[in-house]
This record gives sequence, C-alpha cells and structure tokens, in this order.
Amino acid sequence: MARILITSALPYINGVKHLGNLVGSMLPADVYARFARARGHEVLFICATDEHGTPAELAAREAGQTVEAYCAEQHALQKKAGAAFELSFDHFGRSSSAENAALTQHFAQVLEEKGLIEERVDRQVYSKVDQRFLPDRYVEGTCPHCGYEKARGDQCDNCGRLLDPSDLKEPYSAISGSRELELRETKHLYLLQERMQDRIAAWLDGKTEFPSLTRSIANKWMKEGLRDRSITRDLYWGVKVIKDGAPRPGFEEKVFYVWFDAPIAYIAATESWALAAPAGETRDWRSWWREDEGAEDVRYVQFMGKDNVAFHTVSFPCTILGSEEPWKTVDALKSLNWLTWYGGKFSTSQKRGIFMDQALELLPADYWRWHLMANAPESDDASFTLEHFASIVNKDLADVLGNFVNRITRFCVSKFGPATPENGAYGDIEENLISDLDARIASYTASLEAMEFRKAFAELRGIWVAGNEYLQVAAPWTAIKTDPDRAASSVRAGLNLIALFARLSHPVIPRTAKAMADIFDLTPEQLNVWPENAREALNALPPGAAIQPPDVLFRKIDDEQLDDWRARFGADAPA
Ligand code: 2FM
Ligand code: ZN
Repeated sequence: MARILITSALPYINGVKHLGNLVGSMLPADVYARFARARGHEVLFICATDEHGTPAELAAREAGQTVEAYCAEQHALQKKAGAAFELSFDHFGRSSSAENAALTQHFAQVLEEKGLIEERVDRQVYSKVDQRFLPDRYVEGTCPHCGYEKARGDQCDNCGRLLDPSDLKEPYSAISGSRELELRETKHLYLLQERMQDRIAAWLDGKTEFPSLTRSIANKWMKEGLRDRSITRDLYWGVKVIKDGAPRPGFEEKVFYVWFDAPIAYIAATESWALAAPAGETRDWRSWWREDEGAEDVRYVQFMGKDNVAFHTVSFPCTILGSEEPWKTVDALKSLNWLTWYGGKFSTSQKRGIFMDQALELLPADYWRWHLMANAPESDDASFTLEHFASIVNKDLADVLGNFVNRITRFCVSKFGPATPENGAYGDIEENLISDLDARIASYTASLEAMEFRKAFAELRGIWVAGNEYLQVAAPWTAIKTDPDRAASSVRAGLNLIALFARLSHPVIPRTAKAMADIFDLTPEQLNVWPENAREALNALPPGAAIQPPDVLFRKIDDEQLDDWRARFGADAPA
C-alpha cells in the first residue's frame, strides 16, 4: 500500500465549469483517486478554487458584488457542482485562504533570501480616468498579431497568443472604457528564473514518468530558455506583499501574481484540510508535503489541461526548488488536450457549451462521466457533440451494461426467486469466460494505472460486452427448459458478473456502481475492492444470497430530446 497525493488543477473562480474544464483535470483526477483507493492505497485528493487575479475582480464588478462576496458565492456553487458530479475530493479549498497567504509570503521570503527575487522598475499601462495601473485583463485593445479588436491584455482570445498589456494597439480600459492611457514606471518583484535553468533541467531529467504530451511541452519551454518573470501585480485582490512581517515598502497597493500563489495553494489547501479535521481526528498535512516529515514515500500525481503544463513543469518547480526546502514535487503529471464543442471552443465568457450544473439538469452525472472519460482528449483534441454523446449513452450504457443487468436479474427472479441460485456448477463456458476476463481485467488495470483512460474504458466496455456474449452462448432462457442446473449456473455467473462490473466500473460511474452493488446489498467496503482474479470474482456471491433487481439503470436518449438539447445549447459547428 502506498500513500498517493492527487491534485487537480484549481478551477478559476469565475463561474461553474464547463464539460471541457471538467474532463481536463477534475474528472480524470477523481477517476484515478477512486481507482487508487479501491487498490487499497491511502489517497489524499485535493482541489480548490483559484480565486485571485483580474478575472475575479472584473467578474465581481460586473455582478455588482464585492470580490470577497463574489468569490464566496462562486466557491459554494462550484463545490456543490463538484459534489453533484461525485468528485470525491478529500478537500475542496480556496486559494484565498489565510493558509495560502501565509505560505505564499513564506515562499517569497525564502526565495528572496536565496537571491532569487529582486525589485525591478517596469513601464506599465496607467489609466488617468481610473487612477490606477491596468494589469492583464484590465486593458483591452487590438491584437498586434491578428488584428482582433477585443483582445485582452494577457491573451488574445482570437489567435490564442499570450500578450503583455503594453503590446495592444488602440488600448482602452476594461473598467471605464477610457483611452486616456499612458505608460508609467512602477516597481515589481521578479523571480529570477534564468538562474534556475540548470536546476530545472536536471529535475526534469529525473521525471521519467512524465508522459509524452507533458514532456514535449516542458521541453519546448526549456529550449526557449527560462525568463525572469514578474510575480506581483497592481491589484487589490490577491496575496499581500509582505516582507519580514510588514507590508513591503512601495508594494502596499500590489499583490502577488495569481500564477505565483495558485500552485502554492495545492499545499495550502492540504493545510486547510488538516485544519478542518473533525474533533478527535488528527490530520498531518506536512507528512504529505515535507520530505523531512514523512512525505519521502508519498507518490504525487497531478492532473491538468495542456495550457497549465508550463506552469507546473517550470514555474512552480522554480518556486519549490528555488526555496531549497524539502517540499514534495510531482512524480506523475497527466496532461490532457482540449475537449471542443462541435470543433470550436467551449467558452465561459461567451457561455458556449454545456456547464456542469446544466448537464445535471439533463441527465445524472454518470452519463456524462462515462462519455467524457471514454472519449477523453488524450492523444489529441476531441470534439464533444450531443449526437455522439447520445449514441454512446444509448449503446454503451443502456444497451450493453444496463440491459445486461436488467435481463439477468429479472430472469433470476422469475425462474429461481430473488436469490442467487443454490445449485449449478461451472463448466467449460464459464472457464473460458474466466480466462478471458483475467486477461481483460489485467489490461484494464494496467491502463488505469498508466492513466490511459480511453484505452482503459474501451477495455471496460469490452468486459461488459464479454458478459453479454457469455449470456448469449450460455442462454439460460433455453437451458431452463431442459437442464435447469445449467441455467442456474449461468444465472449465478451472470449475477456475479454484475457484482464484478460494479467493482470495475466504480471509478468512472460511481452512482451506477452503487446501484449495482445494492442489488446484492454489498457494503461500501465490498464495492471498493479491486478484483484481481476472475475466478474469485465469479464465486464471490454466496449461493442463496438475496437479490433485489434495480430500476432501469440507464434510459435512452431519443431524437426528440436530442433536438430539444440541440436547440437549447446552440449545437452547431462554430462560424
Ligand atoms: O487554468 C486554470 O484553470 C488555472 N486556474 C489552473 C491553476 S492550477 C494551479 F496551479 F493552481
Ligand atoms: Zn490575436
């Protein structure tokens, strides 16, 4: 048994996340966490809202709220949506916590002591009308690369290029719309990443477990060479710049840049988890993060979309390694490509796509979880369409899995009563099934272990199909007329298959797995054990054990419903 620390990239605070965000980090992290728990590992699964920076300030302003009230409200909404999607976080914290402020200030202090932070004078966009500097998204204007007229100061939404506010042509203030802008000098803190180039390169060399997508992004950044980067901003909302316990002179109106404090919040949210321990329980967060306090044997796995990889393979390691303190660093970093909405971008600002709360108004979480994970954007971007979603739900979930469970439980009740049949030994067909399942379970387990989700869930589907094919061959409905013992053994195998499917499917469709386990009144502990051996699994249910057939597990999506959804969500290829 190992100790496994799992983090999902922290979702930005502004709004409930869309399906693309969900499959980009939180959902695969949850599937992996559930799998690791079932394998008997001690898992700590941490996430939080990423609350600082200009997007939060601007969204709060638009909503007519203080940024504190806005973030508190949005955090509660995201926490609720996560729980409704069965995301099994051990803690869902906030980057605006006191723990994160203290830890961020600690890292800045230590990095400065190590000679890795210095003050520099910058020229930055200043708005006379707003009487303030305009960092990042506070400036909009025309993109110098593609001519898009509503490019934001940090990035152009049209061509995707990263920008600096001073790059924009015809810039105007996103607050007042004023064009009375000028460049003024102001001080900022710089993290001297150039000095870290060799240390980061050596660290990356040791990360042999990084998959190819992660590695190629990291290598690209390393090849371009690390650049010193400004880690403060002229904002109100963020971690205050403190030095030796007091506001740093000249930085009273500034805060740390959101990308400096956000990854530190992985650690701080673990601290918040410990502080939230119920009475009588002690939680030692340091034993998960400090290699001098027990974390040397922790395996740390991160999940994120590909746009976050540079921050986690280069910038955050600069913070951690630069501190020269014995913090745990990531062992395995799973990164995902984009899920697109009909080939275009899901967009929070333009409300394009389906968002987590809306999805659950249409269908329960497992329908989405299955489709998203079975078609996860791993080797390439993947397109979400409602048509594909409906066809996968109807085929995989309703026809293959749901139908199997329904058929065998109902047949059992009608011919043998509501209990696992007492008689019936296994014969050749069951022996063949057992060896087929052994190979499939081994391959499924290896793919989950490797976090190759598409491959894993193609195999899980194959396991469900193998169950159906077995029933087809064993045909208890025919055997019952001539050889009731044979029929009884097929039914017994079929029921055991349901219990096996429940255990194997639990990481991805937890609520359905629970419904399947409830047929046999299995305890959560019985459900949460990873099956290694098909023979044992097919003999797990004691003969005579009561069964309770479930309601229909999955309903099909019909054309009328599909048309409704298409109309509601504007399902079309983007212009
Ligand atoms: O891209 C995003 O959604 C960021 N909020 C991810 C932050 S991950 C971590 F570093 F906090
Ligand atoms: Zn552009």
